[in-house]
Amino acid sequence: MKDKLIEIIKEAGEIMKEGYFCKKDITFKAKKDLVTQYDLAIENFLKEKFEYEFKDFNIIAEESDNTSKIFSDSIIVDPIDGTTNFVNKVPHTAISVGVYKDKKPYIGIVYNPILNQLFYAIVNEGAYCNDEKIEVSDENNFQKALLSTGFPYSSGSCEDDLNDVMRKMKNVLPKCQDIRRLGSAALDLCYVANGTYEGFYEMNLKAWDVSAGLIILQEAGGKVSNIDGNEYKLFENKYIVASNNKIHKDLIKTLNL
Ligand code: IPD
Ligand code: CA
Ligand code: CA
Repeated sequence: MKDKLIEIIKEAGEIMKEGYFCKKDITFKAKKDLVTQYDLAIENFLKEKFEYEFKDFNIIAEESDNTSKIFSDSIIVDPIDGTTNFVNKVPHTAISVGVYKDKKPYIGIVYNPILNQLFYAIVNEGAYCNDEKIEVSDENNFQKALLSTGFPYSSGSCEDDLNDVMRKMKNVLPKCQDIRRLGSAALDLCYVANGTYEGFYEMNLKAWDVSAGLIILQEAGGKVSNIDGNEYKLFENKYIVASNNKIHKDLIKTLNL
């Protein structure tokens, strides 16, 4: 299944590459949340191919009406993660596809066709970037940890969420090496997986933002949890906290100060 998925996702990457350099039609789903004709074109392309190739799975995809979809044997699709980057030609943007069997992680693929980075993992078979094995970093000193985060779209409308972002930043920033905000949660998780970052946290992410990245990170030796340090549940938890495992406790403690 993995090879077929990669073949299809690489084809979709050609649509993404073409769109990246063109002028886009932008529609606002909410004040800060935008969508282009390329999000829709890639999603439709992937859905059509996946429905034909993988008949035992339903497809849950960001730009689709998922109300009748039950999460079980599911392929969870984010056609463009990092749409704001895609629109502004910031090359940190990717197609994200997570496959679940009976709600359990099976295969994760995150493809950035602009930088030609293909991350993938099959459960129990390790994680790879462009066919090279990747592993989380060994750093266990929180003060030396480079972290990544994201700002929720709700920060433009919900004062509680905005205050929570600022409070957590104030707690974490002095205690770590530094914090990055590059704008694609799927890639942020992959960058913890390949040892670029030691950790990542964000609120209000959707299942399609993280469904693939969390499989890749766990296969690279990392840890994913909710804000209490307990199991992260797709579709349920407000916060995701991810790390190389070694700084996880410190990250959880600092976020909860
Ligand atoms: C967004 C990206 C971003 C994160 C947002 C997500 P989108 O996904 O992952 O990094 O901060 O919360 O919604 O909207 O570009 O698919
Ligand atoms: Ca996304
Ligand atoms: Ca998206």
